Amino acid sequence: MEKTQAYKRIQELTELINDANKRYYVDNAPTISDYEFDMLMKELESLEKDYPDLKSADSPTGKVGSDLFNPVPESGSIGVNGAKREFEQYPHRYPMLSLANTYDISEIQAFADRVAKGIGNVCTFSCELKFDGTAICLTYRNGRLYRALTRGDGTVGDDVTENVKRISNIPQVLKMPADFTPPRSNPYPWPKEFEIRGEIYMPWEAFDRLNEVRIKEEETPFANPRNAASGSLKLIDSSAVAERGLECTLYHVLGEDLNFQTHAQALDTVASWGLPVSDKRNICTSIDDIRDFITYWDTERKNLPFATDGIVIKVNEIPYHTELGYTSKVPRWAVAYKFKAEQALTRLVSIDYQVGRTGAVTPVANLEPVQLSGTVVKRASLHNSDQMHLLDIHIGDYVYVEKGGEIIPKITGVDPGRRCPDAARPHFPEFCPDCGTPLVKDEEEARSFCPNQSGCPTQIKGKLVHFLSRKAMNVIAGDSTVEQLFNKGLVWNVADFYELKKEHLLMLDGWKERSAERFLNSLQDSLETPFEKVLYALGIRHIGETTAKSLARHFGNIDSLASASREELLATDDIGEVIADSIKEWFSDEVNIEIITRLKSSGLRFATDAVKEKLSDSLEGKTIVISGNFSIPRDHMKKLIETHGGKNSSSISGKTSYLLAGEKAGPEKLRKAESLGVQVIDEVRFMHIIGQIPDKSDETNDYIHNEQLTLF
Ligand code: IVH
Repeated sequence: MEKTQAYKRIQELTELINDANKRYYVDNAPTISDYEFDMLMKELESLEKDYPDLKSADSPTGKVGSDLFNPVPESGSIGVNGAKREFEQYPHRYPMLSLANTYDISEIQAFADRVAKGIGNVCTFSCELKFDGTAICLTYRNGRLYRALTRGDGTVGDDVTENVKRISNIPQVLKMPADFTPPRSNPYPWPKEFEIRGEIYMPWEAFDRLNEVRIKEEETPFANPRNAASGSLKLIDSSAVAERGLECTLYHVLGEDLNFQTHAQALDTVASWGLPVSDKRNICTSIDDIRDFITYWDTERKNLPFATDGIVIKVNEIPYHTELGYTSKVPRWAVAYKFKAEQALTRLVSIDYQVGRTGAVTPVANLEPVQLSGTVVKRASLHNSDQMHLLDIHIGDYVYVEKGGEIIPKITGVDPGRRCPDAARPHFPEFCPDCGTPLVKDEEEARSFCPNQSGCPTQIKGKLVHFLSRKAMNVIAGDSTVEQLFNKGLVWNVADFYELKKEHLLMLDGWKERSAERFLNSLQDSLETPFEKVLYALGIRHIGETTAKSLARHFGNIDSLASASREELLATDDIGEVIADSIKEWFSDEVNIEIITRLKSSGLRFATDAVKEKLSDSLEGKTIVISGNFSIPRDHMKKLIETHGGKNSSSISGKTSYLLAGEKAGPEKLRKAESLGVQVIDEVRFMHIIGQIPDKSDETNDYIHNEQLTLF
């Protein structure tokens, strides 16, 4: 690949991976499968290897995906799936890393070769299940559970101690083994303080129970037990955590005063203290042993009561861990072999063609019910007509179904050998199944669309539901409310919501004074929704939450955005040609302009708060990168930068004005700042600059000394 092309692809992959990481770790609502994610990461790693000078300092290949809730919105606000959006954060004593992974069994040999090259052919391997949950780090102090942190960004984690205390198999107090005879130095078998890391997971049974309730209550079900575990661990209400049926397994012991020789010995010992450790592990002395362990569990995992996505192979002798060491992201003494997604074979009964809120028509397969990864699957996605052609699918075919990251599983293959001779190819519709308008095909996306955006009932209802949804205007209303309002002709577009009167609502079946008032109050409250969310709520094609945020920040108000030229749009962060065209098209439709005018007169926010909330111009024109921990949460710090006219950036370049370095600032960032001559300032200096510490002659301020040194 040519260098400019490689540069573009690296940018693209970085964006895709960062977005997928956020959706996976923070939103708990992944949009791509683990396999697809791992393949993107491998592509980026390989491009960075070919073009090392194109690798950015904060490339996702060099760090673990962060589960920190970030940025922190208004206090008390609820995140995706009912999770709390703000936790105390604490630094990890030892970085909390990820694992190198492979789907190719022959790469296990390559791993063993690398290990042998580092330490000689001297070790044994501990093989264990890879639990598909969310990582946790427990600290025990004086035999009691002291703190539980999530992995966070690997350096700092969210404090979820109170929630972890509600997980039934995690002991709050360690148990004394029956055969323990204390040495004189320590009356307890455990050291004064140690850390133990593992996985919090949700067994299939608890997962199915939870999703059943969520579907009944018209909430989005969790895509998989991993997301359910991670979402549950971050619930506001600790007592609700107890009801979620989470469990824990622990697999890595760390501390200063541990004298374990092997990993297996460490796990056996902590198990005798009452800590939950899996017994599904084995010490392997050869590659063949490892292969056998993998092959056994690849089949047997289907009978486990919880999800496992692979096997972890670790050097068993602990002194070799230090010898082999770590990269910035993974240990060199362990590797994960990942299982390909589980498949099931079943028959395709028929295909429905569903119209989405943006008009995309998606083929959805109706299947003979089949058991897959602990649930019964009856429907699966076929994505688009190209995919149907590629599979050469026929009605009545036996098809392979897989669960990816999506809620609805997908068809990944067919078995043509079992096809009936008279089986017919499905016919992708040429007209919208809902409103009859001829469909148009978007060649780039290989999807068919109904172009009747403002007249197709499914699209209209989809847009209305999206507008009210939690991440958009956050109005308390189910899909059935929208259905009722639409069917009665009370709401046709989003502006109609704000002109509803109580007497309108009382005309609807089952509506009483109280429900009507609640809905109207919620609409009233939604007038406070920030501009970026209003923009997202409008449902412009390709404008997701992140893009809406970028646009709101860049243009500041709807009028500037509406009148922006294609070039101006393209000059905005994260905006490419497809998005720019979609925005131009949306604002060129008079129906949309009228909706905006009406929403404006109803009082919705169509300008960013930043303008209103601006506290000073002290950072005008300054681009600031922050790193490390401060006396206030990092996101408050970022907000301070913005409200004083500055711009946040995540990577240091020649254009950076300051590196604002807190405690434990990244050494990589500090080095880069130094090499580029970027000024490094600390928190005190920063507060001086923005005028939050009036006494500027504070002699104890390190930065001022530094500045003087540079000046003279
Ligand atoms: S050992 C230094 N053992 O998989 C890394 N990890 O995809 C030590 N995981 O971050 C990790 N089961 O959260 C280890 N038996 C196991 C595991 C396991 C699941 C998770 C862990 C890790 C992730 C990497």
